[in-house]
Amino acid sequence: MSDNATYKVLFVCLGNICRSPAAEGIFRKMVRRQGLKDKIEVDSAGTAGYHVGELPDSRMRQHGARRGYKFDSLSRKFTSCDFDRFDIILAMDDSNYNSILRLAPDLDSEAKVHRMMDFSKKYENDHIPDPYYSGTEGFELVLDLLEDSCDGLLDKVKKDLI
Ligand code: 4NP
Repeated sequence: MSDNATYKVLFVCLGNICRSPAAEGIFRKMVRRQGLKDKIEVDSAGTAGYHVGELPDSRMRQHGARRGYKFDSLSRKFTSCDFDRFDIILAMDDSNYNSILRLAPDLDSEAKVHRMMDFSKKYENDHIPDPYYSGTEGFELVLDLLEDSCDGLLDKVKKDLI
């Protein structure tokens, strides 16, 4: 992360090998396409450290590649330092949301945390379901929900940048 970006976005799930690296890759591609690479920085993390240092799950990478995404960030654990480093923190589900909030040192930090599906434009789902023990359809659903919610999130970030 460089220090001169205007807005820093962090996606968080449990293991940081399926949902949040996919969100990172999808959002990064949208940011690049809109010429906002120098204005918006993107990262992801997991509330658990089971997979630290690993590439995203091979199934998530394969499903992403079919839609033209490259998910290649290495898993890391979310820490309370992330509240200082990022402007907005997106939780994939309620469990992630509560785990993040438990580490928040103050109200300003708490206010940075949002549920990813709050930015969805066309889906009623209230969370991004964990695909780890699911089949193909679980990974495809994650990508559908993330493409839509990333679109809505970028609208919000662009408004905040003005
Ligand atoms: P993620 O999926 O939170 O979307 O990265 C999971 C990855 C690993 C595990 C659970 C969920 N796990 O139990 O190892």
